[in-house]
Amino acid sequence: MAVASTSLASQLSGPKSLPQSYSGLRRSCPKLDHSHSHSHSLYQHLHSHLSLSSSRKASRAVVAMAGTGKFFVGGNWKCNGTKDSISKLVSDLNSAKLEADVDVVVAPPFLYLDQVKSSLTDRIELSGQNSWVGKGGAFTGEISVEQLKDIGCKWVILGHSERRHVIGEDDQFIGKKAAYALNEGLGVIACIGEKLEEREAGKTFDICFQQLKAFADAVPSWENIVIAYEPVWAIGTGKVASPQQAQEVHVAVRDWLKKNVSAEVASKTRIIYGGSVNGGNSAELAKEEDIDGFLVGGASLKGPEFATIVNAVTSKKVAA
Ligand code: PGA
Repeated sequence: MAVASTSLASQLSGPKSLPQSYSGLRRSCPKLDHSHSHSHSLYQHLHSHLSLSSSRKASRAVVAMAGTGKFFVGGNWKCNGTKDSISKLVSDLNSAKLEADVDVVVAPPFLYLDQVKSSLTDRIELSGQNSWVGKGGAFTGEISVEQLKDIGCKWVILGHSERRHVIGEDDQFIGKKAAYALNEGLGVIACIGEKLEEREAGKTFDICFQQLKAFADAVPSWENIVIAYEPVWAIGTGKVASPQQAQEVHVAVRDWLKKNVSAEVASKTRIIYGGSVNGGNSAELAKEEDIDGFLVGGASLKGPEFATIVNAVTSKKVAA
């Protein structure tokens, strides 16, 4: 973790001073080189400022969570795998020991959804990696929400940075997709996150809030949405956000929900982190109060390592 944040710090620049207020923080978001104690005080500052009550979690078994939702870990297999490699991965997942109090979801490539559905344990739910914006029909190359449901998916990942920045999907289009999927009964893993140059320009919160707003403007309800904060600079790069960097944005996202949607939605909505999560860094990340799980790319292709990430929930628990 220290290595990752140091290397990031050497690449990125940002104001060094502590924010005087939340809006100040918003402008000076990228504090990439602060020490742990500095981060800790910032974290306390945010929590007191945002008045995210800790009383609501008093009776929970997993106490170190700001939100009330269950820990959630998704594996995004992206455009990887063959029938053989996927059969091995499924068998590793089937024999893995997974903590009970975690929602676990995997998103295989569309072509292999049926294979995975018929061979994977029911303990793990299935997600599509994308879906068409409306009802299926004459849309060459697309996969509809109806088809995802038909094949056994409960979830769909929408707004992933590779869809936004490689394929060119915009905020409104993604919002419409989310609305359609939710209305048809799929859960949505709604991805947001800033690019490196946006972080360097101090626009991390602006970008995340803009992407959140597009979801908020379109969706009928937040009941089946999990927000995945995935800084683009951390995806597939090996440069994981430090726990403090992730926590800082997660707190801000929860606060945005509180102010712009409702306190209840802010508390209930899972906010998971994605971007170079692996078996070695997941436990430290999971300790952060507002990190409610992970969206995992590369490391989700290895069954035992994915299980380790799922089981990082244990680092949230305290002895009763
Ligand atoms: P990564 O991908 O874990 O390989 O960085 C994360 C994601 O894209 O969801």
